[in-house]
Amino acid sequence: MKVLITGGAGFLGQRLARELLARGSLKDPQGAPQAITELVLLDVVQANNFGDKRVRAEVGDIAKRSVLERVIDAQTSAIFHLAAVVSGQAEADFDLGMRINLDASRLLLEVCRQCGHRPRVLFTSSVAVYGGELPDVVQNDTALNPQSSYGAQKAIAELLLNDYARRGFVDGRVLRLPTISVRPGKPNAAASSFASGIIREPLNGEAAVCPVAGSTRLWLLSPRKAIESLIAGLELDSAALGNQRVLNLPGISVSVDEMVAALREVAGDAATARIVFEPDARVEKIVGSWPGRWDTSRAEGLGLSGERNFADVIRSYIEDEHIQLR
Ligand SMILES: NC(=O)c1ccc[n+]([C@@H]2O[C@H](COP(=O)([O-])OP(=O)(O)OC[C@H]3O[C@@H](n4cnc5c(N)ncnc54)[C@H](O)[C@@H]3O)[C@@H](O)[C@H]2O)c1
Repeated sequence: MKVLITGGAGFLGQRLARELLARGSLKDPQGAPQAITELVLLDVVQANNFGDKRVRAEVGDIAKRSVLERVIDAQTSAIFHLAAVVSGQAEADFDLGMRINLDASRLLLEVCRQCGHRPRVLFTSSVAVYGGELPDVVQNDTALNPQSSYGAQKAIAELLLNDYARRGFVDGRVLRLPTISVRPGKPNAAASSFASGIIREPLNGEAAVCPVAGSTRLWLLSPRKAIESLIAGLELDSAALGNQRVLNLPGISVSVDEMVAALREVAGDAATARIVFEPDARVEKIVGSWPGRWDTSRAEGLGLSGERNFADVIRSYIEDEHIQLR
């Protein structure tokens, strides 16, 4: 089986690639495991190929048809479409966000349509498609009302994917991902970057700035569970998805205060003392418009699951990243 990950050099792309290589197979549309013979990692930057002969790391701009035609052919049976510019960047650069998050998504679907073999395409959407006046628990039928360009681009791409699936051009599935925490590495341009920073930096003995109030509620998922969900999402039985290809992924609803309390439970007062609250109206406006909890009964009914306890998420981060507590 030939598999493509767009954004294959990114945070989730690299983790997904590593997990797929370790598993060695993916279920085909009939539910039978098929060996992964080629894993193409497309990104604007060079992806790590893990020294594995099955990996083909392709550098190219996903917004160019010629690049997509180089990496998608009638043998490409599974596509994880992760390439994107993140929320803060899409807000700061409108044209870039439209080009990568929207135009390139449509182009990818078009190239799949042109190939004519109805590949499975999994698209990663976000909490940012919701916004405005929201119920405490967002339901599957809560209207989309994004309050950022990133959210609008994701919402439009969701609709496109649903329609390309309805027309039989792709076997599409959309996972709306919670904010991923704890993300290793450096802060990024996502408005939600602090959701990892306020845990990661204090665990590294460094100061962290929290730009939102302690009462801000977030909908989170660990990197481990995110990768598990991407694979399970791609392998979902197409018939079970029917004519609604979008799933709100299970996660954990925590306020920033509860996140800090969980950090205290795991790493003590010395760690939480490194967090400084400095409200930033720009970040509060974007993140405050996102839902803090949504109904996940449909995804759970299809076998997907999230976490129950944020302290355990921190513990799994410490274990995965070999962090020495200070
Ligand atoms: N991490 C999260 O908290 C989160 C939450 C919700 C949704 N998502 C979505 O999940 C997906 C993956 O997120 P991530 O955290 O790995 O992000 P990331 O920024 O680490 O990865 C995205 C990758 O896309 C690549 N890319 C950007 N422009 C490109 C272009 N023109 N051509 C080819 N590649 C390009 C980037 O170089 C990057 O490696 C994205 O679609 C994101 O919107 C992530």
